[in-house]
Amino acid sequence: MKKLILALALLAPLTAFAAGGGAIHPNDPANIDTGNEAALQRGANHFVSYCLNCHSMQYERWQRMEEFGVPEDLLKSNLMHAGAKKGDLLKVAMARGDAANWFGAPPPDLTLEARLRGSDWIYNYMRAFYVDESRPFGVNNTVFDNVGMPHVLWEQQGMQKAVYTEEDDGHGGTHKVFAGFEKVSEGSMTDVEYDAMIRDLVTFMTYMAEPTKAKSHRTGIMVLLFLALLLVFSYMLKKEYWKDVH
Ligand code: HEC
Repeated sequence: MKKLILALALLAPLTAFAAGGGAIHPNDPANIDTGNEAALQRGANHFVSYCLNCHSMQYERWQRMEEFGVPEDLLKSNLMHAGAKKGDLLKVAMARGDAANWFGAPPPDLTLEARLRGSDWIYNYMRAFYVDESRPFGVNNTVFDNVGMPHVLWEQQGMQKAVYTEEDDGHGGTHKVFAGFEKVSEGSMTDVEYDAMIRDLVTFMTYMAEPTKAKSHRTGIMVLLFLALLLVFSYMLKKEYWKDVH
């Protein structure tokens, strides 16, 4: 009991942080399934096309993608940099110093991002860029204020602005409350299509952050099935042994 109380006491500041860490908008669940191979393949493709120019995933190798069904020839012809080998890490060509100069902050490595921030966070972040002329790239982000990243998927999503309403704060003043996004220009995708694209991207990033997790899940289910079967047989065996005893 003492241990439990101690554990709760230690966790309390964490939950307070999660609840009070500023309003995050939007705050939708990503609803990903890291067992969905088609989603993983699409996500890998998006990541290589749109993210790997700036962000590395340098604690993972290209061959990891074979685990979710990317055939070797496709991996080589479509995804890998020219001249790369399957065993190479997912690095970027840009020097970190250059990147820091261009963006104010270097684009961080994203291998473990899904574990660091959580899949839902990334899902919402990628949908939360909005027009803000005061920023170097003309965009800001409601999930990551003053982020150094440009809205790289603006052609797909289009551009949106953040709408705020003034609300009485109960002390004679007002404060701004986020009311939602409003489209200022259309992208090539509908919102539903764009969300699906981001979901695939996040599925891929989540898999890469913890590649063994999907496998452990499957193993766990097999173990439970095996135990259930064992229970049935044990019960039958018990009946068999005891039937002559009474
Ligand atoms: C043009 C370069 C560039 C491209 C392309 C790019 N990013 Fe970024 N990204 C950045 C920079 C710079 C930052 C760091 C921002 C900061 O710290 O202010 C960043 C930050 C991030 C973060 C937050 C990291 C953190 O601090 O936790 C995520 C998540 C992210 N990017 C995801 C993506 C994804 C997914 C893609 C592909 C769709 C992508 N980025 C494409 C430059 C880029």
